[in-house]
Amino acid sequence: MADVKKIAVIAGDGIGPEVVAEAIKVMKSTEELFGLQFEFEHGLFGGIAIDEKGTPLPEDTLDMCQRADAVLLGAVGGPKWDNNTKELRPETGLLGIRKALGLFSNIRPAVVFDCLKEASTLKPEVLEGTDLIVVRELTGGIYFGEKFRREGEQGEEAVDTCVYNVHEVERIVRQAFDVAMKRSKRLASVDKANVLETSRLWRETVNRIAPEYPEVELEHVLVDNCAMQLLRRPASFDVIVTENMFGDILSDEAAMLTGSIGMLASASLGEGSYGLYEPVHGSAPDIAGQGIANPIATILSVALMYRLTFGYEEAANAIEAAVKQVLDEGHRTSDIAADRAQAISTTKMGDLIVDALTKLQ
Ligand code: NAI
Ligand code: MG
Repeated sequence: MADVKKIAVIAGDGIGPEVVAEAIKVMKSTEELFGLQFEFEHGLFGGIAIDEKGTPLPEDTLDMCQRADAVLLGAVGGPKWDNNTKELRPETGLLGIRKALGLFSNIRPAVVFDCLKEASTLKPEVLEGTDLIVVRELTGGIYFGEKFRREGEQGEEAVDTCVYNVHEVERIVRQAFDVAMKRSKRLASVDKANVLETSRLWRETVNRIAPEYPEVELEHVLVDNCAMQLLRRPASFDVIVTENMFGDILSDEAAMLTGSIGMLASASLGEGSYGLYEPVHGSAPDIAGQGIANPIATILSVALMYRLTFGYEEAANAIEAAVKQVLDEGHRTSDIAADRAQAISTTKMGDLIVDALTKLQ
């Protein structure tokens, strides 16, 4: 038996609790199958925490996350809190938890499943072989810079500042090179070095670190060009590393290559093996409570957790294989179904993945 791993669960709002329940179901099934042991502790986070505790990130939730070995997050937010002041917005909790847990990188795989190629808006031949990872800096840049309003010569002005220091760039770039070393050894560093000073610092830093990884083939791509190339030649990318805002946008674009946001997993990492794992999608208020959300993104996030935090490679591969098998058999939630009338529920998808896992062993 492996040691007991403590998992902090913050299911959040909307479909968050629905998809997290299926991920936990899968984790529990792997306990017996692979001799793993987990202890789950649940905490309030996001909109529900605002309603019940008056803050999106209560102290005890943060403590719980800090005591855990890994965090499993659903999603937060919804129209109910959209007009709240900054302190009382669910997104403020997201930024806060990343900062408090020292999670400076966000890793998002975008893999095109063969059987879902038709679900994408791109031509199948363009998508063929697409399997890339976007490594996004998560705690610096313009989202965290000073922001304010002021009276300018032509009326009200708003200011957002983008700041990066060398240390912040170095640690994310090293992590991306490390990820590239474990894959096909190709890294694309994305910046806007023709206009932004933070991007010039970024590029200098990448070039200074690159000689430490002589086997990695490095290319610098300007962000606007990268946005185009992702649509033209997605399969040519392996690991993409970029700063916070560019990464936010490009990872959503990469996400759409795969056809559904309900399929995309993510990991947020700091120094060491600690990580927070969550689906890329939000709380999907439009379908919350209907039991039709696709739980695969969250289930694949568990596979990432097993691989990146715990080194449970065999169980991680098995989860991915089980997902692939269920899809190959033609089971679909409504977001990826060609015929919505044939779509299965969230819990049914979770059950089928657990069945496939069990049968694959
Ligand atoms: P969203 O990802 O929640 O939904 C976009 C569209 O995709 C919707 O039509 C939704 O029904 C669909 N969708 C998303 N996940 C799905 C799944 N698992 N299965 C089937 N369909 C799925 O993004 P949106 O609508 O922009 O944001 C909704 C709320 O979520 C907002 O309050 C936003 O701030 C929040 N949000 C939270 C995030 C997080 O917690 N990390 C990330 C993105 C948005
Ligand atoms: Mg986004």
